[in-house]
Amino acid sequence: MATEQETANAVVNGGAATGSESLTVTDNRTGQVYELPISDGTVRAMDLRQIKVSEDEFGLMAYDPAFTNTAACRSAVTYIDGEAGILEHRGYSIEELCERSSFLEVAYLLIFGELPTGPQLDRWTFDIVHHTFVHEDLKQFFEGFRYDAHPMGMLLAGVGALSTFYPDAKQIEDPEERYMAAVRLIAKVPTLAAFSYRHNRGLPYVYPDNDLDFAGNFLSMMFKKTEAKYEPDPRLARALEVLFILHADHEQNCSTSAVRGVGSSDVDPYSAVAAGVAALYGPLHGGANEAVLRMLRRIESVDNIPAFLEKVKEREEKLMGFGHRVYKNYDPRARIIQQHMDEVFEATEYNALVEIARELEKRALDDEYFTSRKLYPNVDFYSGIIYEALEIPTEMFTVIFAIPRTAGWVAQWMEMNDDPEQKIARPRQIYTGDRGRDYVPVADRKGPEKIVGPPARRPKRPRRGA
Ligand code: ACO
Repeated sequence: MATEQETANAVVNGGAATGSESLTVTDNRTGQVYELPISDGTVRAMDLRQIKVSEDEFGLMAYDPAFTNTAACRSAVTYIDGEAGILEHRGYSIEELCERSSFLEVAYLLIFGELPTGPQLDRWTFDIVHHTFVHEDLKQFFEGFRYDAHPMGMLLAGVGALSTFYPDAKQIEDPEERYMAAVRLIAKVPTLAAFSYRHNRGLPYVYPDNDLDFAGNFLSMMFKKTEAKYEPDPRLARALEVLFILHADHEQNCSTSAVRGVGSSDVDPYSAVAAGVAALYGPLHGGANEAVLRMLRRIESVDNIPAFLEKVKEREEKLMGFGHRVYKNYDPRARIIQQHMDEVFEATEYNALVEIARELEKRALDDEYFTSRKLYPNVDFYSGIIYEALEIPTEMFTVIFAIPRTAGWVAQWMEMNDDPEQKIARPRQIYTGDRGRDYVPVADRKGPEKIVGPPARRPKRPRRGA
């Protein structure tokens, strides 16, 4: 055991620890004591590196698969308090933004940090509206996809392809190029999204209509048929606009981390955002609202709800659209969607799933099983029903999620590029493989006689959280 004197000598100050804002760590392997500064409720993982048994050792690392307790950046874009059910962008509550702002205002707020003044908003809107067209060659590119290509796969390829049309975007330090990339991404992703849907349906592409607002133009590109001008129902356009605002950013989730990680290589913003689209494509991230619809259809009628909830409690079923890794209270986005449901259903055909969803929510919130586990509706519980009411097919749900999230990805990409502490992302690993093996020439290698094909399927891993 180390003597008191040895221990005192071994106190290593990991940085600018002041007063009680520090963590004292004793390495029981050596008896050495270290003082690590605490700042913003965190210790720096690099401060652990000094903790080692011998000088030639690498030093201690933090092991955190899936980054469940590791802050990878400092960010001023989005604030979430999951316990209290609070979501704010740049300090403004999501409730107020949904009530009082347009999506383009929120996109401006996320990217530039302030709500735009009147003239700033006019200029921003003008710039977005005048960049909604995509190069005709991109149309040809889309025509190369199989007739039944998944629209999210097409969007992913289309966003990546944009980088070849705007090679100057590689100058990521140039403020003008950055501004143009932000404008082009926000303006063109809806066009590519709608084109991917029309391709999938075998319908001709509809060019953007500069007279319509952001959501109205998207509905026009999706649904316009032979009419000279598509007139979106203002109630539906507003509901879609609110859904866009609700999905604009959600701090360091899987796709945003992908954008930051890929963007940290200094690649152009189109390629970085394509990485975000790819991450969102995964069912654990962008696909839960589709699962909610499937669940509601299986329940079939309000009478079957008690039996379904019993199955959930027996863990034979999962109540999709309930629970969240961060929100341990009512997801504020779910509450806002609910407020717009009546308006949407006034303008659309009756959908029996709404009744099932509302009753299911009521009963679950009355049930100790769900309340004791802090399981409340999340944003996906009602968003799928609204999309369905807007006649948007399920394979488009994730594509539509990508439209507003592009604003968040761009904002986070810019913030990452301006952060002097950031450099190319490069996590560490704990190596678990062999070392120093002797190379055996192919003729001398021993192994099973039988030549096998692909290995047998492994049992499905348990579903993991988004
Ligand atoms: N239905 C039934 N039970 C649930 C549900 C659910 N939807 N979610 C969590 N639980 C239970 C778990 O079984 C666990 O119970 P136990 O403590 O008795 O074992 C307890 O609640 C805690 O759940 P965790 O799995 O620890 O919660 P976690 O934070 O890891 O998971 C997640 C969050 C993945 C979102 C989960 O709640 C879930 O699968 N929900 C359904 C899918 C869904 O709606 N996803 C969309 C999320 S929103 C978004 O990504 C945009």
